[in-house]
Amino acid sequence: MKKNILVIPGDGIGQEVTDWGKKVLEKIALKFNHQFDFDEALMGHVAIEATGNPLPDETLAKANASDAILFGAIGHIKYDNDPSAKVRPEQGLLKIRKELGLYANLRPIKLFDELLGASSIKPEILRGADILFFRELTGDVYFGEKKRSEDRKTASDLMIYSAYEVERIAIKAYEAAMKRNKKLCSVDKANVLESSRLWREVVQDVAKKYPEVETEHMFIDNAAMQLIKDPKRFDVVLTANLFGDILTDEASQIAGSMGMLASASVGDKIGFYEPIHGSAHDIAGKGIANPLASILSAALLLEISFGLKKEAEAIVNAVDQTLKQGWRSADIADYTTPIDKKVGTSAMGQKVLDNL
Ligand code: IPM
Ligand code: MG
Repeated sequence: MKKNILVIPGDGIGQEVTDWGKKVLEKIALKFNHQFDFDEALMGHVAIEATGNPLPDETLAKANASDAILFGAIGHIKYDNDPSAKVRPEQGLLKIRKELGLYANLRPIKLFDELLGASSIKPEILRGADILFFRELTGDVYFGEKKRSEDRKTASDLMIYSAYEVERIAIKAYEAAMKRNKKLCSVDKANVLESSRLWREVVQDVAKKYPEVETEHMFIDNAAMQLIKDPKRFDVVLTANLFGDILTDEASQIAGSMGMLASASVGDKIGFYEPIHGSAHDIAGKGIANPLASILSAALLLEISFGLKKEAEAIVNAVDQTLKQGWRSADIADYTTPIDKKVGTSAMGQKVLDNL
């Protein structure tokens, strides 16, 4: 298979971890006889520094010309502490999601057995948890109108959804549920929000076409609690952009660490793959970030965009093997980890390559 892959490392630890996602893809090409041609582009803080624009036209053009995109992370501390900044790194990510029509963000939460002890949740609650989140990605307060009053003392973000936006992601989530345990939980705040009442109406309609799937509707506050109380009760979770952003960070604790979670953003055409973690400037450049989320994002890319199931499986197995051998980056190490098994980004990435 011959494909073009665009690599956008982005900011902070994005640079360090994406390097390993890419190396794993190169190894897969070699091992399975594919040709992957790589290009690279700027986005986020690094793009602002170089061009003044968090998503330069050149990056968007390269994205549109690619078959799939491997992305790192976005953000810089400078902007986090300066709410008045007009140009912000995150605008780059939001714009590319919108421009590429990436309306469905899939975030699989799966715990590798070896990491049962890495989470702050009790092992007996966690064991066997396996959730697939469908987070809507191009609507909601993220993209609704933003306003600030003239005296700048009042501000608002419009939470807005149209039926077609809910319907298209609901269909994707139900299709996935049919291939899994046929259970879907739609999360909203329909007891308070009109946009959530529309969400629920549309999901109820789509549900009629999938009678085999057991549908449950849950309020976001309750879902946040149930997720920690009994994660095994969930199979597919379908939710809006903001709720999904928050719930999936929470759910990362089910997988032991944010550093383990990969995601796929799909929609119209080109798939976009990225760890769910951020740029983590506190540890950037130190060589200690966990590369596994990027490596697992590369596996999702192969499976979802290119249909290369065997290749994706080989990556997941290599990660599993690496964990079984006891290797741990700082975020997934615990007091039982021997000091000589605690490794940095490069050593961890190299172990996965070796196992591959
Ligand atoms: C995510 C991130 C982004 C989001 C930020 C960086 C804009 O938190 O992908 O979850 O809120 O969607
Ligand atoms: Mg987030």
